Amino acid sequence: MKTEDLSLHKATLAIHAGGLKKPVFGEVSVPIFQSSTFSFPNAAEGAARFAGEDEGYIYTRMGNPTTRALEDCIASLENGYAGMGTASGMAAATTVFLALLQQGAHIVSTASVYGPTRMVLEKEFSRYGVKSTFVDTADLKQIEQALQLPDTRMIYIETPANPTISITDLRGAAEIARRHDLLLVVDNTFASPYLQRPFELGADIVIHSLTKFLNGHSDVVGGMIVARNEAIYRRLRPVLNLFGGTMDPHQAWLVLRGVRTLPLRVEKAQENAGKLARFLSQHRKVTWVSYPGLPEHPQHQIAKTQMDGFGAMIAFGVKNGLEGGKTVMNNVKIFTLAVSLGGVESLIEHPASMTHASVPRKEREASGIGDGLVRAAVGCEAFEDLRDDLDRALNMIPE
Ligand SMILES: Cc1ncc(COP(=O)(O)O)c(C=O)c1O
Repeated sequence: MKTEDLSLHKATLAIHAGGLKKPVFGEVSVPIFQSSTFSFPNAAEGAARFAGEDEGYIYTRMGNPTTRALEDCIASLENGYAGMGTASGMAAATTVFLALLQQGAHIVSTASVYGPTRMVLEKEFSRYGVKSTFVDTADLKQIEQALQLPDTRMIYIETPANPTISITDLRGAAEIARRHDLLLVVDNTFASPYLQRPFELGADIVIHSLTKFLNGHSDVVGGMIVARNEAIYRRLRPVLNLFGGTMDPHQAWLVLRGVRTLPLRVEKAQENAGKLARFLSQHRKVTWVSYPGLPEHPQHQIAKTQMDGFGAMIAFGVKNGLEGGKTVMNNVKIFTLAVSLGGVESLIEHPASMTHASVPRKEREASGIGDGLVRAAVGCEAFEDLRDDLDRALNMIPE
């Protein structure tokens, strides 16, 4: 199916979008074109492809039919202009920074953004003169106050954000970006396009770690950049191809296979998450629950207006802080103790003793990551088994 045919529901697009423009044998599944290079029928055709006058393929780093099928699929799901497959989610983020931030430029980002995204800006891009400020973007005033005009060029939002599950009002962030002529980039990994389409809310660029919900089976690392329009696409594509963080066709095929069941997986996982969030909020060993679907979540109303569902990520606090968190980690049997998210299996992690253990406590707590915070990435198992698993592990926390 071509990306133009796209007034269909997301559940239909996830299954049909991004086929080959010309199927070879009428195949139903997109083939894996495992070829590093592509022959030209003659010199004129080779010249036309290099000149961009012919859409044919040249070399897989510059484009590949299987990768293209996935790029078209994700661009359709996001309602964007075009996708660019990358080797990982981090390659997607760093390509956007490389292409659009020059020396002296400034970026304002969500403070609780995925750790390595913050690290690459603070430790690596700073070496090239790029400045960054991290604020709680759930509070739009903080974005506005952090601007260093005319140096600020980009607002970078992750929503829902990692690992606190706070929500940023994307329409509000887009309004600030428009007013000051800035680019709004959204990491849509936690929601997936099935639940949130940032272009419809005013974003310019959407990035994904495909490793999560879009692939959905915890067996591939990959990323995607989607551009809102052709002008932005033309600024990004050459940088991606030159720096080389592109996607492999086999990787693309696996993700394409995963995307076909995105709606089914997300529906089931978020149904489980909603029920678990309610169960946890009644549990005597749980001190608080952050899930956008709960009316007490501070941005519940915003989530309702910008998302089609509340997703499958829950953060909650347990009694006894650090020890309480470790007790839960050591006693779950169905939840797997692992970082990452978006797979069919439920994962659980404890940032204070794991992903954020090296961050000084004061700094950690300032970004909302207390000792007792547990992050659950809810999967597609039977709800009752997940509930009983958490209940058993929580009850092991000493009084
Ligand atoms: C929100 C978010 N963005 C980006 C990334 C980076 O993706 P990858 O691990 O595919 O490089 C992650 C990884 O966990 C993530 O959670």
